[in-house]
Amino acid sequence: MKNIFITRQIPGSAVKTLEEKGYSVTVGKYKTPITERELIKELKKKKYDAVITLLTDKIGAKIFDASRETKLFSNYSIGYDNFNTKEAEERGVTLTNAPGNYVEGIAEHAIALLLALMSRLVEADTFVRKGKYKGWDPMLFIGDDISGKTVAIIGTGRIGEKVARKLHAGFGAKIIYYDVIRNERIERDCDATFVNSVDEAIEVADVVSLHVPLLPSTHHLINEARLNKMKPSAYLINTSRGAVIDEGALVEALKKGKIRGAGLDVYEFEPKLAKGLAKLSNTVLSPHIASAQIEAREEMGKIVAENVMDFLEGKIPKNKIG
Ligand code: DGY
Repeated sequence: MKNIFITRQIPGSAVKTLEEKGYSVTVGKYKTPITERELIKELKKKKYDAVITLLTDKIGAKIFDASRETKLFSNYSIGYDNFNTKEAEERGVTLTNAPGNYVEGIAEHAIALLLALMSRLVEADTFVRKGKYKGWDPMLFIGDDISGKTVAIIGTGRIGEKVARKLHAGFGAKIIYYDVIRNERIERDCDATFVNSVDEAIEVADVVSLHVPLLPSTHHLINEARLNKMKPSAYLINTSRGAVIDEGALVEALKKGKIRGAGLDVYEFEPKLAKGLAKLSNTVLSPHIASAQIEAREEMGKIVAENVMDFLEGKIPKNKIG
């Protein structure tokens, strides 16, 4: 019988599907992200043919050494910056991720952050709950709207493209974008304008929304210099990976009014926040939940289960990395 280890509980029917296939599935009973040491301990208990990992699990040399029989590590996420892909390739270990059609919800979450920020919803909610609302006031919580604003989408893969489409068709935003690959679909359908660099995009944008994977080339893509180039009235949204932004520099920029606000779902040193970030009222912060819709989570599980089943049946998994 083939053995599968899942580092922590995941929602949906993936475990059932794998068990119905006749595999033995062990789920780690961890309430917080499993540490490298804990994972090594788990992997030494049994010979696992495949391991289902989360984006919080750092998978590299030490893990491969601890479980030499495991030839598949299957990530329950789109992003896979937690994998040491080079090390895996050298050892002949297969890696998979879980991209799917569930990106609607992620795009909606990016827009939810933007709407909350522009309409100052979180600040206003706190104000009301604290009993501070004493009657209608024309000066109260003056914010912004999206209509007619220039939104720069940085990275127009599946998620960036959805955000562009929704903001253009639903909110009347003007879309500009930067990506290493031209996206002719959004040029045609959203009247989107391609710009030649990140700098060109952020200098003119009222909103910058980040949708790039975390790579050496995108680490601190938004740094102090670029924050200085943004309009003081601009908003920054990040639902990709925290380290795409220099979070310390962002806190300073927000404090000094170099940009108007930031909506973040991801953090550079997750789950820790940069010093001072949580105190800033011109931010809306969520705990990496952009894909936490029941439909998305279920689909992620299905994709992961299919990748594992394909691999264990000797086929090349659809979402093999590299
Ligand atoms: C991903 O899939 O990479 C998200 O960050 C988590 O759902």
